[in-house]
Amino acid sequence: MQGAQQLMKVFVTRRIPQEGMKILKQAGICNLSVWDSDEPVPRAELLKSVSGAHGLVCLLSDRIDAEVLDAAGPNLKVISTMSVGFDHLSMDEIKKRGIRIGYTPDVLTDATAELTVALLLATARRLPEGVAEVKSGGWSTWKPLWLCGYGLSGSTVGVIGLGRIGLAIARRLMPFGVKRLLYTGRGTKPGAKEVEGEFVPLDTLVSESDFIVVSCALTPDTQSMCNKAFFSKMKNTAVFINTSRGAVVNQEDLHEALSTGQIAAAGLDVTTPEPLPTDHPLLTLNNCVVLPHIGSATYSTRGIMAELTANNLLAGLTGAAMPTELKI
Ligand code: NDP
Ligand code: DGY
Repeated sequence: MQGAQQLMKVFVTRRIPQEGMKILKQAGICNLSVWDSDEPVPRAELLKSVSGAHGLVCLLSDRIDAEVLDAAGPNLKVISTMSVGFDHLSMDEIKKRGIRIGYTPDVLTDATAELTVALLLATARRLPEGVAEVKSGGWSTWKPLWLCGYGLSGSTVGVIGLGRIGLAIARRLMPFGVKRLLYTGRGTKPGAKEVEGEFVPLDTLVSESDFIVVSCALTPDTQSMCNKAFFSKMKNTAVFINTSRGAVVNQEDLHEALSTGQIAAAGLDVTTPEPLPTDHPLLTLNNCVVLPHIGSATYSTRGIMAELTANNLLAGLTGAAMPTELKI
């Protein structure tokens, strides 16, 4: 056992699943300090607690920028985020300082794809409205024209960003009888063959799809990509689903498209900001289903994400190969 002075200081910005904490504790090389709460660490506390740290475990809700890196100081060797998305990390600043990054690709792909399919079906078949009607007594009898929605059979689905999660979503949707699977991105994907995916320009995807699923990363190119021009090209009967990041969507434009009947419905697992204020106009619309960013929220997935986050951190501290390092 090393003396306390030789242990490497590690700050963990949130209570994370025990699977990850156990690995960090048992490694015997970390002097761990944890923001032991389910709520985010206040910025001032983060800046204080990260000071002198060799390792930082963070979440997607922690903005890790020059201010945090400066507060950490020159000891910082590794940042391990318990997420696959990394838009909360200032990559240039991290790279400049030679800090390594661990992240959690693959292990949450199935859970997130499954949630996306659930959200798509709930939105298209109006499940939250139906449940509310049952509870409020609005269900008077079986009515031929009541609570009708849109089905996947014979439809065209467009996936924006056929990456790990996009492909997993497409694989799950095809057996519902989808006729055409369109996708767009920066280039063609070999995996698209499996789902008979057709690579098309964004405009084609937007105007021809009955269901649009956004599963790309948030980058300067994708920021606000789903805006007024985008929604105005969609079919009036089309359903829009976003499980990537809220900032890919211009929410005012989405609200207008939904409230004017420009598009049929939207399902969002991600918003700007998070949480979405309870008085936000999108929450007044029956044709908008909003979930609280739960794409990867299964017990086992979160446990595995925490394990991977811990193992990435330890590898970064010891200079070993990380299980999943984000190359920058
Ligand atoms: P991948 O890196 O495998 O996929 C991202 C995809 O985005 C790639 O196919 C990439 O295409 C595409 N992309 C990049 N730029 C553009 C662009 N300009 N237009 C269209 N597509 C583009 O990541 P994952 O599939 O593992 O994760 C995707 C995202 O999902 C994460 O970044 C995260 O934000 C979000 N996510 C959300 C979760 C939730 O809880 N809701 C859970 C997990 C992830 P190319 O390869 O050609 O660059
Ligand atoms: C991610 O990992 O990027 C998700 O948004 C949460 O699992």
